[in-house]
Amino acid sequence: MRLVVGNKQKELTNEELNKIISTYSSVVVDIGTGDGRFVYKNGLINCNVLYIGVDPSEKQLRVYSKKALRRKVNNVLFIVGSMEQMPIIANNSVDKIYITLPWGTLLESIVKPKKDFVLKIFNLLKKDGKLITTFGYTPELEPSESKRLNLPPMEEELVIKTIIPSFESYGFTLDDYKKLSKKDLRDTETTWAKRLRFGKDRKIYCVSFWKKL
Ligand SMILES: C[S@@+](CC[C@H](N)C(=O)[O-])C[C@H]1O[C@@H](n2cnc3c(N)ncnc32)[C@H](O)[C@@H]1O
Repeated sequence: MRLVVGNKQKELTNEELNKIISTYSSVVVDIGTGDGRFVYKNGLINCNVLYIGVDPSEKQLRVYSKKALRRKVNNVLFIVGSMEQMPIIANNSVDKIYITLPWGTLLESIVKPKKDFVLKIFNLLKKDGKLITTFGYTPELEPSESKRLNLPPMEEELVIKTIIPSFESYGFTLDDYKKLSKKDLRDTETTWAKRLRFGKDRKIYCVSFWKKL
């Protein structure tokens, strides 16, 4: 797999990645991390936790990887990958998985969850691990994305009656469900959360699940 280290890239084998993971008692993975701000900011303050950001865009990953390199933040990894082509992380080795403001097929996987995707996430988590996802879209503001992915209207009913039960049917236990206001996004330390805080109003939901089994 390809690791982004500042402006450079480095090959990392599955064994090397899992060896690094095994040296930390706590591991957080951010899928669709974008520029990696979440990984960097949290890595800075929680030195004993390993933060792994995964995104298909190498260019985006360089943004905070460069900062991490400059500030010598060693407990962060920026990996080129996607939900479809995840780095091979050993099952039962991740404490928390974040998927924040996804788009494209990652958004589709949350809104129309399929067994393969949910089980992939579920299996990566340790027992008592947590998935935290924040998502939302507005057909008026993102017409092409909603149409291309054939997304149903983002209403509370969809979250409660379809999305949550789908994740539960594949083994997750609901922890919390919140409708977020733009103001609430200030607690989400990502670049898109920051952007949307100053943008037009939109329906955004944050749902978290436990892996209790
Ligand atoms: C709106 S941005 C959000 C980025 C970051 N989470 C944030 O909040 O700033 C959506 C991200 O999802 C990524 N993405 C799209 N499809 C994906 C997929 N199938 N797997 C992983 N990431 C994906 C994009 O590359 C993009 O960086």
